[in-house]
Amino acid sequence: MSATTVFAPASIGNVGPGFDVLGLAVDGIGDKVTVALTDSDARVESVTGRDAALVPREPNRNVAAIAAMAWLRNAGIHKQPVVRLEKGLAVAGGMGGSAASAVGGALAAALAAGATPSPNEIMAAALEGEASVAGRHLDNIAASTLGGLTVVLSTDPIDAFSIPAPRGWRVVLLTPHVRIETKKAREILPRDWDRASWTRQMASTTALAYAFASADAGLVRRALDDRYAEPIRANLIPNFRDVKRAALDAGALGCSISGSGPTIFAITTDNDARVADAMRSAMRDIGCDVHTGMISPRGAHAL
Ligand code: HSE
Repeated sequence: MSATTVFAPASIGNVGPGFDVLGLAVDGIGDKVTVALTDSDARVESVTGRDAALVPREPNRNVAAIAAMAWLRNAGIHKQPVVRLEKGLAVAGGMGGSAASAVGGALAAALAAGATPSPNEIMAAALEGEASVAGRHLDNIAASTLGGLTVVLSTDPIDAFSIPAPRGWRVVLLTPHVRIETKKAREILPRDWDRASWTRQMASTTALAYAFASADAGLVRRALDDRYAEPIRANLIPNFRDVKRAALDAGALGCSISGSGPTIFAITTDNDARVADAMRSAMRDIGCDVHTGMISPRGAHAL
């Protein structure tokens, strides 16, 4: 039984104003998923790494296994996955951890079967895993699959594409030691919104995508503005407003909540170390982990 290992990068959901639409892949941090195929039952052989104790071992509750089973079923392959998962991403941390596990599971299953899957096949299978824990949204999955800044035009049917990120732009991820379940953080958001607000949000989202496409740092400063989720979810994250202010004062192009939080992200140019220090200081006595790195130009890939 030959096994295939895949690395799937972390991702920033929403990227500020682009609720469920924009995603940004982060280099150097993610989940590793190994899949081998068996004629007997699906199983999760091991889970190691960050928050491993919190990850379910039952295949029908484990997002990597659910996505691997979905890909095999969709491809008409009568085999089951044996999954080994090495978590680099926190559970309920707002770094696209469930999406990375799901994308990794789907791609590793496909490669173990000797297939050359299309990105849409991977995203469709991964969505089954993501939907089981976090809800039916594709922003993190698209970023973890395609890399760069991703735009989800439609979830049903899947239509997503990637805009290559400008060279030299970097991200800071600060994850305070609290957990926020995405499903709950979605329930507190309004389902209906007034026209003036969504018009403004749409303008910011469009401008932010163009800022990435044209490497316009000044436009990021004006466009990275979330008036929908951030004002409500900020109350779930300790010291969020101080950390954001510190990031902007230290020269970040923008700062907001990564996905449903608690991770806070900042987009920077070459000043990421200074921005990271300022954000960490503003978190004061709340324990946190900080990652600085490039925007990942590529999505999940075999190791
Ligand atoms: N778009 C999702 C949300 C991302 O904000 O609920 C969750 O990571």
